[in-house]
Amino acid sequence: MSTYTYKRSQELFERACSVIPCGIPGHMSPAVNVPPASYPIYAAKAKGACFWDVDGNEFIDYMCAYGPMILGYGNEVVDDAARLQYALADTTMCPSPKMVELAEFLVDLVEGMEWAFFAKNGADVTNYAVMVARCATGREKVVGIKGGYHGSSAWMQGLAHHGVTPADASNVLRIPWNDVGAFEDLVAEHSHNIAAFIATPNHVATFYDNELPEEGYWTKIEAICRREGIVLILDDIRHGFRLNMKGSHVHYGFTPDLICFCKALANGYPISSLMGTDALKNAASRVFHTGSYWYQAAPMAAALACLKELKRLDAPQWMQAQGEKLFSQMGELASSHGYTLKVTGEPVMANVRLADDPSFMLHQIWCGECTRRGAFIASHHNLFISMAHDEAILEKTLAICDEAFAALKGYQERGEVVC
Ligand SMILES: Cc1ncc(COP(=O)(O)O)c(C=O)c1O
Repeated sequence: MSTYTYKRSQELFERACSVIPCGIPGHMSPAVNVPPASYPIYAAKAKGACFWDVDGNEFIDYMCAYGPMILGYGNEVVDDAARLQYALADTTMCPSPKMVELAEFLVDLVEGMEWAFFAKNGADVTNYAVMVARCATGREKVVGIKGGYHGSSAWMQGLAHHGVTPADASNVLRIPWNDVGAFEDLVAEHSHNIAAFIATPNHVATFYDNELPEEGYWTKIEAICRREGIVLILDDIRHGFRLNMKGSHVHYGFTPDLICFCKALANGYPISSLMGTDALKNAASRVFHTGSYWYQAAPMAAALACLKELKRLDAPQWMQAQGEKLFSQMGELASSHGYTLKVTGEPVMANVRLADDPSFMLHQIWCGECTRRGAFIASHHNLFISMAHDEAILEKTLAICDEAFAALKGYQERGEVVC
């Protein structure tokens, strides 16, 4: 199996650096995956579980575009629904009836939620959720988890980041994941000034293993929120419709007040949603939050088609099973080469890490060697399984991983990596 080169990607990136800050700002920056030289920079086309870069290299995508792709790239059912709506109307002077249809569908689908609001990105709805919680409670503080990510807004980023002021960060308090006692301590310290608790269903921090909720964690958090009148916000932007079609709270057995959805909602079409309980509908009506493209009808049509298809296919169960199969066989392969692969989190969106070297060097080289052979495996992020990751794709992936482990051994034998 020959390894890929990225000449055209690199040429494009050089051009980009003179006209776009950082060339590619944010989470798709080439600085994110290490070693950068092993990863493509620009994509040319995509279909099913794969995308092709501008150099013509084909990749099985284990990032699913950071989560939006769930049915496979270019899914006909979703694309037909979007095309039909684009041909009728998309951004017009009034919203489309699709907005009502989608809200009704979501209210019917997602357990415990009685209304839906639509925007574009995840941060649009985490921002809105926090505003709704503040409006409903008349309080300022928000409690989040250390390392938890809810979008790039200034309140979320924290003071260590450029462009963030102390005022932006002053109302956000962070506690460790799975630490109910730390939440009780904050409640005692900031009595009656905590508006909301926000967290993802399980903990997925970049550079760290994923962590599942301990037995009883969510029900204890929920009980404190109820006792103290704190709004419980579930950020289901990354996990939503991957663990359970009724919402990830059903998977873990608790009841939030507000749920943020985005990524898998429409298989890549731009749409996000905040859903909530009746008790918060009045506050949600009072908060002003909107955007030029938030009423686009085609992504709403795409979301309806995508959700119906995911439900019809019992997608979460199928994807979990594919993830279990893939990662257990990947672990066996690692052992056969003398390595230890640590797999954490839920199989449908697991984090994998070579545990033989705490410096991450071996892990990064192996991820890069997989990618240079056609299985795009990010070095420091959870991976995603989609409905397009079928048996043939898993088989091809495992053959690539096998070669990548052998290549990694070669680096060590030649003394090119010392850990
Ligand atoms: C859990 C979670 N919340 C919020 C966001 C922010 O979403 P967006 O980048 O669409 O604003 C992300 C994005 O990765 C996320 O993973």
